[in-house]
Amino acid sequence: MHYAMNASSLEGSATLIYTARAAAMKAAGKDVISLTAGQPDFPTPDVAIEAATRAMAEGKTLYTPSMGISELREAVADRWSEVHGQNYKVDNAMVSCGAKHSIANLLEAVVSPGDRVLLPKPYWVSYPQMIRRLGGISVYPVGDGMLITGDDVRRAAEEGAKGMIFNSPCNPSGLVNTADMMKDIALAIRETGIWVISDDIYEDLYYGTGQVPHILTADPDLKDQVALITGVSKSYAMTGWRIGFAIANPDWIRIAGRIQAHTTSNPCSISQYAALVVVRREAEEERIDMYNAFRRRRDMVCDLLGNVQGLAFDKPEGAFYVFPKVLSDKEINTEKFCISLLENGGLGTIPGSAFGNEGYIRLSFAVSDDDIAEAVIRLNAFLERGDFK
Ligand SMILES: Cc1ncc(COP(=O)(O)O)c(C=O)c1O
Repeated sequence: MHYAMNASSLEGSATLIYTARAAAMKAAGKDVISLTAGQPDFPTPDVAIEAATRAMAEGKTLYTPSMGISELREAVADRWSEVHGQNYKVDNAMVSCGAKHSIANLLEAVVSPGDRVLLPKPYWVSYPQMIRRLGGISVYPVGDGMLITGDDVRRAAEEGAKGMIFNSPCNPSGLVNTADMMKDIALAIRETGIWVISDDIYEDLYYGTGQVPHILTADPDLKDQVALITGVSKSYAMTGWRIGFAIANPDWIRIAGRIQAHTTSNPCSISQYAALVVVRREAEEERIDMYNAFRRRRDMVCDLLGNVQGLAFDKPEGAFYVFPKVLSDKEINTEKFCISLLENGGLGTIPGSAFGNEGYIRLSFAVSDDDIAEAVIRLNAFLERGDFK
C-alpha cells in the first residue's frame, strides 16, 4: 500500500503521547503525578451545560450552517471587536471544531506546497506538522531567544517566508511578548507584507496588568493581514466540546469556510449553543475563578522550582505552563529524561524537543496544589539522583 507522502511523514502529537503514557501508568495502579495536561482541571461552567441541554431538548441537533450558527459568529465578531477595538462582522468570523481545527483551516487557505512559514521557537507541537501536511516548509528564527523580534521576521521574509504563526502567551513557555516587542514585530509585519495567524487561545490567561499585548493593539490597521485564533477551550474549561474561532479578513474566512464545508461540514450543533453563552460572557465568574487559581498556582510552582538546583526558568506571564531548562554539563536528551522521570521518578512531563527546544521540559500547573508540591519534590529528587546523565 502506498500512502501519501505528506500525510505519512506526520509525527504523532508528543503532548498527547506523553499524557497518554502517564495516564496508562496511573490506570495500571502506579504512583504517578502527571504535569502533562494541556487543559484546565475544572468543570465546564453550568450555564454552558444548561445551554447544551436546552439545545438538545429543542431539537437543535441537526446540521448547522457550515461556518457555524449566525448567533455565535455574530457574538464572536462582537466580543473580539471589543477586545481589539475593531469592527468585525459575521463574515470575519468562523466557528470550527476546536482552535486546532481553526488553525488548520486558515493554514490550508494560505499555504501552497513549498511555501515557507516562520515559527517562533519554542512552538506548539502541532504547527510544524500542520504545515508539513500541506507540503509547506517550517522555518525558524536563527538566534536562540525565547521571544521573536521584528528582525527575525524580516530575515525570514527575505529568505522567502510568506507567513508566520505567532503564539503569545506561548505554549510551552508561558512567556508573553511585551507591548514594545509587539510594536517592533508589527512594524516588520507591515514592511514585509507576510500573513500572520495569531494564536490567542491563552489570551485570557495573562498574569500581567491589563490586556495581554497584541499585534493588533500595536497596529490595528494590520487586521486584514493578521488572523486571530481563539476559542472556549482554555478560558472556560471546554476542551472536550471542540469549539474554536477564526477571525480574519472575509476572503480568508470564505476560503477556509469552503475547506470546512468539504471536510467536517459544521462543528457540533450542541457545542455551538454551549459556546454561545460563554462568548456572551455569561460565565465570567467561573472564568475569573479559574484564572485566579492558575495565577496562584503559577506563583506557587515558581516559588517551589526556585529552590530546585539544576533548573533555570523565566517566570511564565501567561497560560498554565512553566518551561525550565535542565542544567547539565552534558547534553541532555529530554525524551529520555522525561521517560526516565516518568518511569523511575513517578512524574509525567513533556520533553522540550517536542516544541523545538531541546534541553527544556514543560510542566503544566493545571493540577491541584498538592500535586504541584509533590511533583516538585519528585523532580528535585530525580535531579539530585542524576541518573539521567
Ligand atoms: C497554543 C495552542 N493552540 C491551539 C490549541 C488548540 O485548542 P483547542 O483544544 O481549542 O483545539 C492548543 C491546545 O492545547 C494550544 O496549546
